[in-house]
Amino acid sequence: MVDHPHNKKTIDLVPDHVAVIMDGNGRWAQKLGKERKEGHQEGMEAIRRVTVRASQRGVKVLTLYAFSTENWKRPPQEVKFLMQLPVTFFDRFVPELQENNVKVNMIGFRKNVPGPTRKSIEKAIDQTKDNTGMILNFAFNYGGRAEIIEATKSVIDKVLSGELNKKEVTEETLQAELLTNSIAPYDNVDLLIRSSGEQRLSNFLLWQNAYSEFYFSKLYWPDFTGDIFDEALLDYQSRSRRYGAI
Ligand code: IPE
Ligand code: IPE
Ligand code: MG
Repeated sequence: MVDHPHNKKTIDLVPDHVAVIMDGNGRWAQKLGKERKEGHQEGMEAIRRVTVRASQRGVKVLTLYAFSTENWKRPPQEVKFLMQLPVTFFDRFVPELQENNVKVNMIGFRKNVPGPTRKSIEKAIDQTKDNTGMILNFAFNYGGRAEIIEATKSVIDKVLSGELNKKEVTEETLQAELLTNSIAPYDNVDLLIRSSGEQRLSNFLLWQNAYSEFYFSKLYWPDFTGDIFDEALLDYQSRSRRYGAI
């Protein structure tokens, strides 16, 4: 049980897997007359705040949507900046992740991600691999539909090679081929948070959000705080999850 600072409610039912669509960096910058990239830069501070708070609260996996397979449609300058952000982030914050016993993981496609970005992510994964606390899982060059297609191809290969019988193609065997197998047994999302007032999935964890609870905040991501994260946790524990039953 954790005392909540504002309204003295307690957080006693903490979701295992929280996933966040970190949206509104561009609008945050625009509101202040800054360049969009300054919004992305400031968004890193929100990542720090939320990572520390989530890990203090006992969340097992925090998945952050950092770059979607559709974000390549943005202007080349912005794409370039977003590709370089993991390098900056891990250079600065790996020591803080270590202090918090946080283990880094990534889900997404390596294809098209520049070498230095890939290396910095791999290095952070390696540096934190022995940590036993929360998994900080970056969805980077991630797309839900592409993930399901790749998983389907893997299942087909296994059926063709005889490793798997067609009858054994089940929710479990398909799920095991998804990128989120790397965060098993917490593959499925318990609480999905999206900032900036938008209320859509934008191709994020389509399979894994089948029974998640949604929390929408009007705040732009750079304005997101640990206390707002707590608000989402408090809201979550008042929900009744039924999974189709009664
Ligand atoms: C989220 O902020 C960050 C990424 C998608 C990488 P946006 O860049 O989408 O910000 P808005 O939605 O334009 O305000
Ligand atoms: C979703 O935000 C992707 C990330 C947060 C990385 P977008 O800003 O790309 O989503 P849309 O285009 O508004 O749906
Ligand atoms: Mg956006």
